[in-house]
Amino acid sequence: MLAARKKPASSTPQPTIKITALKKIFKVGEERVRALDGVDIEIYPNEFVAIMGASGSGKSTLMNILGCLDQPTSGQYILNGYPTHRKGMGKLAQIRNQEIGFIFQSFELLSRSSALKNVMLPLLYSSTSKRPRKKAKAALSLVGLSDRMSHRPNQLSGGQRQRVAIARALVNDPSILLADEPTGNLDSKTTVEIINLFKDLHQTGQTIVVVTHEEDVAGHAERIIRLRDGRVISDHLTAEDPIHLDWVERMAAGRGSLAEVTQAELEINAQADANRPEPTKARGFFGRKQPKPAPPATSETVDQLDNWDQWEVEQ
Ligand SMILES: Nc1ncnc2c1ncn2[C@@H]1O[C@H](COP(=O)(O)OP(=O)(O)OP(=O)(O)O)[C@@H](O)[C@H]1O
Ligand SMILES: [Mg+2]
Repeated sequence: MLAARKKPASSTPQPTIKITALKKIFKVGEERVRALDGVDIEIYPNEFVAIMGASGSGKSTLMNILGCLDQPTSGQYILNGYPTHRKGMGKLAQIRNQEIGFIFQSFELLSRSSALKNVMLPLLYSSTSKRPRKKAKAALSLVGLSDRMSHRPNQLSGGQRQRVAIARALVNDPSILLADEPTGNLDSKTTVEIINLFKDLHQTGQTIVVVTHEEDVAGHAERIIRLRDGRVISDHLTAEDPIHLDWVERMAAGRGSLAEVTQAELEINAQADANRPEPTKARGFFGRKQPKPAPPATSETVDQLDNWDQWEVEQ
């Protein structure tokens, strides 16, 4: 059983995430791609939210902004009461390190480093972090990998690699865990194990947002937000989500398939199309230089990790 996190003291908590009129427009040659086209979402402490939508609907773009890996073209993003949308990439990296645990579909582990050192990596960037090795060991044990700490990623199964990535995301005790298709590269049995781990973390008070294409994965979340063409087309508790309920009914009757489009989905999509405003010409944002994502870990970073034993002794 995982240790319980402190619940917020206030009876009316502020949202962990509040985004308003969020837009992200990519310029590719002469073309402008409206990846996010006016998104409003609030997510409260200890919510477990699934984000769904067809390929290209803007899920990863949204997650990258929520994870402070990228900035919006316009709109607001308030994280724990702190406005992030006008911050530079340096400040965003600091916020990301302190507040956010990010999990990717492709794990993004350092291949030359052990599970333990991969999990210690975020602490390397956190000047206030004491006892990094102890913290990393605790995070690995939380995800059930106490016996694999010295294994490198290629010595681990896909599910174990994702557990290392989850431990790395948790090691700084983030206020929110963001996962972009965390089970996309896993088989169905391993998917269930990873989702059960998310559910355990949620039970201990962790706020979680997970992107998925799979209704059965989304079914474990409490709330489902659906995107289409960069806009939110529905936002319901899972138990009240018409598309999800339709899918559950079909599966129960043995009539469904994972890929099938339900009648409820067709209706919601048609309504979203009907409500869609004519595109207006956005001004003022395209000349702005887009921030570059944080650079990947360099060999220098890996060397720093390799020297960590000495660094830790010197603390
Ligand atoms: N860096 C970029 N430059 C230009 N266009 C981009 C960029 N990133 C994303 N896009 C475009 O923005 C739109 C949304 O992309 P995004 O990756 O957010 O979709 P997604 O919902 O995550 O899709 P998938 O389910 O396939 O992962 C797409 O049309 C995509 O081509
Ligand atoms: Mg994506």
